[in-house]
Amino acid sequence: MLKVYRGELLHFLADPAKVALEDSYQYLEDGLLIIKDGLVEQVGEAAELLATLDKNVEVTHYKNGLMMPGFIDTHVHYPQTEMIASYGEQLLEWLENYTFPFERQFSDFEHGKSVAEFFLTQLLEAGTTTALVFGTVHKESVEAFFTVAQQKKLRMICGKVLMDQNCPDYLSDTAQSGYDDSKALIEKWHNTDRLQYAITPRFAPTCSTEQLNKAGQLLSENPTVYLHTHLSENKAEIAWVKDLFPDSDGYLDVYDKSQLLGRRSIFAHGVHLHDSECQRLGETDSAIAFCPSSNLFLGSGCFNLKQAEEFDVNVGFGSDIGAGTTFSMLSTINEGYKTQQLRGDKLTPFKSFYLATLGGAISLDLEGTIGNFTKGAEADFIVLDYHATPLMDRRMRHCTNLSEKLFILSMLGDERHVKATHIMGELV
Ligand code: GUN
Ligand code: ZN
Repeated sequence: MLKVYRGELLHFLADPAKVALEDSYQYLEDGLLIIKDGLVEQVGEAAELLATLDKNVEVTHYKNGLMMPGFIDTHVHYPQTEMIASYGEQLLEWLENYTFPFERQFSDFEHGKSVAEFFLTQLLEAGTTTALVFGTVHKESVEAFFTVAQQKKLRMICGKVLMDQNCPDYLSDTAQSGYDDSKALIEKWHNTDRLQYAITPRFAPTCSTEQLNKAGQLLSENPTVYLHTHLSENKAEIAWVKDLFPDSDGYLDVYDKSQLLGRRSIFAHGVHLHDSECQRLGETDSAIAFCPSSNLFLGSGCFNLKQAEEFDVNVGFGSDIGAGTTFSMLSTINEGYKTQQLRGDKLTPFKSFYLATLGGAISLDLEGTIGNFTKGAEADFIVLDYHATPLMDRRMRHCTNLSEKLFILSMLGDERHVKATHIMGELV
């Protein structure tokens, strides 16, 4: 089945920081996106491609909008949806006072389903079509999430949290039960339709060495599953890890000693990394989820994107709901830009839209599957609307080039500027 969409179109081919800018993207003022059975068949100039199509093929024309691949959120907690905007704490107190009591409710499958339904609707409205998602310690939370994501035909990655120490009893598993539950979830869900599994130790402080080693064992037994955790987010957290793991040579080394680094390993935050840690992330092809909204909200600090680039570390954006305060990748870019300004660094409009799409896909080892309009990729795409709000409409009148357009979209844009979201070519 053919689906054809016409309009202004942008997608990335490479990291703008690594190649000549004009080689990093394809931009068509009047483009055509041809989709066959949910996959990208062809992209090109409308004038050229329309002539090759059968006269009866219906063409959906998006005027005054920009078609681009769906956004990719490389770090988010669906169970924290209803505790977003909890006041006044930094990471460790925030976890203890707000997060842990909230996550308790996810032992209930029906509760998980209800929150997952709302969460995924919010993501799609914000134009995010794939996410790497934390569940809670309860296997029911992941069952609920995958059940809803499967109904919606989404490409989603999720995992049951592993935590066996320094947490309330009601949220604690054991090294063995965490291993067993994760294994059963992998067997049931990993690569079922478009769903994939991530082994998810919460973070070093809540995991015994035995649990981290079991996670490493599970990863080696299932080399195509993901590893998803937190790393070097907050200074008090880092000091705590040093106390808890005195034999390790820094925070990342705790994970490294348990064989948790690699091509499908994604570490959220990495705000306070040493060069040697960045180098190790780069050489193991691991990824960092850059979560500016959360890093500002919890007062964690400003991620050093330049350092990650220097050591060739894969980076994608993460909303990190509920420490992050927005589902919108446009708003996340906005916060990211400001964190780099505070550092005295620049985040260009091209780099930021790259990070929100192809950069996220590469971080998740899904290049060619999502993140751009390469032939054969899954056609999850969005249409951004330049005129959805009076302010953006007026500002756009003074806009002279693509770079400026992208910058305005990300500084003034949010869910209101996502006109349409398509999953496998279908409007949802
Ligand atoms: N570190 C450990 N758990 C969490 C969490 O739920 N959110 C954030 N932002 N950091 C964490
Ligand atoms: Zn997080």
